[in-house]
Amino acid sequence: MTIHIGAQPGEIADTVLMPGDPLRAEWAARTFFQDATCVNRVRGMLGYTGTWRGHRVTIHGSGMGMPSLSIYANELIRDYGARTLIRVGSAGGYQPHTRLRDIVLAQGATSVSTPSSTIFREVNFAPLADFGLLSAAYRAATARSARVHVGNIHSSDTFYTERPDHVAELTRHGVLAVEMEAAELYILAARHGVRALAVLTVSDHIVTHEALPSEDREQSFGEMIEIALEAAFT
Ligand code: ADE
Repeated sequence: MTIHIGAQPGEIADTVLMPGDPLRAEWAARTFFQDATCVNRVRGMLGYTGTWRGHRVTIHGSGMGMPSLSIYANELIRDYGARTLIRVGSAGGYQPHTRLRDIVLAQGATSVSTPSSTIFREVNFAPLADFGLLSAAYRAATARSARVHVGNIHSSDTFYTERPDHVAELTRHGVLAVEMEAAELYILAARHGVRALAVLTVSDHIVTHEALPSEDREQSFGEMIEIALEAAFT
């Protein structure tokens, strides 16, 4: 057990999917896993381990924002030996072509800061996805005819930004969408020599202010989980 995860040694699989919302972890485990067992309830941050097509897999909430994700990803990697971590979550579209329900595979994640910023000092480290996972997720998404985009995303420290100039510059430089966790996940993966990817669905649009109704969010979330599982185990 760690400070934030109550799982016993061996109860976390090598592959961990990480949605922001712990209730989504519970829903996905019950929907997609065989023999799902709850392995964490500390602070309501639910984690489940089960099997998918015979592969052992864990799904564990990350919470919102990079400081929260950093706690869980650090403990999953360092204390439980997780080797493949895939964030599955929502993002706000930046580009006219990143439309509601589209899938965004974050090849890189730009940020103003991350919990790791202080260790890099003046260096602007470029957090990148694992290429094997990225290419497998792209194949899985196109095989199911999903509208999928691969490229740079923005991992923001805020949901309610007071800096529209950041949005304008990032959009001008082709950044696809905004979320709040991937950059630190990629940095931690690089630090510990493990694989990471963020598979995102556009749930709202920053420029047009459109947003997905909650029924559609569940369906999109299910599609992301399947893409992430196929990517992890191909
Ligand atoms: N995740 C989903 N929509 C978002 C937004 N608008 N900003 C940051 N993260 C998000």
